[in-house]
Amino acid sequence: MGQSIAFQKADQLKKKPEPGQLGFGKHFTDYMFEMDYTLDEGWHDARIIPYGPILLDPAAMIFHYGQEVFEGLKAYRAEDGRILLFRPDKNLERLNHSNERMDIPAIDESLVLEGIKRLINIEKDWVPALPGQSLYIRPFIIGTEPFLGVHPSGEYKLIVILSPVGSYFGDKINPVKIYVEDDFVRAVRGGVGFAKTAGNYAGSLKAQSKAEELGFDQVLWLDGVERKYIEEVGSMNIFFKIHGEVWTPELNGSILPGVTRDSVIRLLKHWDIKVKERKISVKKLFKKAEKGELEEVFGTGTAAVISPVGFLKWEDRVIKVGNGRVGALAEKLYDTLTGIQTGRIKDKFGWTQEVSPDPEPVAE
Ligand code: COI
Repeated sequence: MGQSIAFQKADQLKKKPEPGQLGFGKHFTDYMFEMDYTLDEGWHDARIIPYGPILLDPAAMIFHYGQEVFEGLKAYRAEDGRILLFRPDKNLERLNHSNERMDIPAIDESLVLEGIKRLINIEKDWVPALPGQSLYIRPFIIGTEPFLGVHPSGEYKLIVILSPVGSYFGDKINPVKIYVEDDFVRAVRGGVGFAKTAGNYAGSLKAQSKAEELGFDQVLWLDGVERKYIEEVGSMNIFFKIHGEVWTPELNGSILPGVTRDSVIRLLKHWDIKVKERKISVKKLFKKAEKGELEEVFGTGTAAVISPVGFLKWEDRVIKVGNGRVGALAEKLYDTLTGIQTGRIKDKFGWTQEVSPDPEPVAE
């Protein structure tokens, strides 16, 4: 018999943000989903409670050794008013892969998915409806045991928060500018690069600031050993269209296995476009660009969706991709993916799941 999900009603609801001014990750809804883990009880006490601060012991292990994992997925408003989730099972499966690497106890994926659906049902009025908007869903798990020894925590908290969002890159309509980082590295094989864990992002911030100071939007990481091969961008996976084929770095253990990355590869194959998941040397890529063979570059991610790249800078060389304009393939992928996500285009792949209306939850 599965666990039930309790519900605690908020005394007051928030004023919702202006629909046209959401930005990314700035507004949070009225409720959150929470669950706790202890060695004796396992994962227990699934509940939806009012959104608010959490009280943690200052010795909680998350503050000292960063034992954390997170996910990012989205709910979309269809034209007919339905609410659709995009491949939520893939995100929860990846959360458990991250858990495994970070030595965090596995979650029951179906219970957490049920919790997310119940939460979204309660928060249905927060799912925005303008083009390019969605409700971003951020599940995360933190080690909460108060203990200073370097050891896996014996207690954890899982929380899911919701944020109505627009574009990750703000109102920017132009393709993004990417800086190839050749000094700092993000991950090495055998490390935690494939896991969605806070430390990967904490370690990237210095390079992100450096890229911004130089007038770039994000960093493109090279492999951590030879610093020759392209891995991923700050918040997205990366694709290159070269001579009609599409290349993307192969998953080698230090790259995040993106759900959007996988969806894009499947769409491209469905369109009979040749996709090569391979090692891509930055030197070779710049050579191809200089010979005029690099037709398009774009990033993929839940937050970033499909983000065309207009400029790449590596050492003292800068390439302008496709005259700095959005490429036709990136545009087609964007339209198809967002079309499937919002129910405008028939979902032949079985990727979307409707959040079907729930009977009104009963307060505790
Ligand atoms: C996402 O695309 O959902 C991510 O988690 C990337 C990010 C760190 C904003």
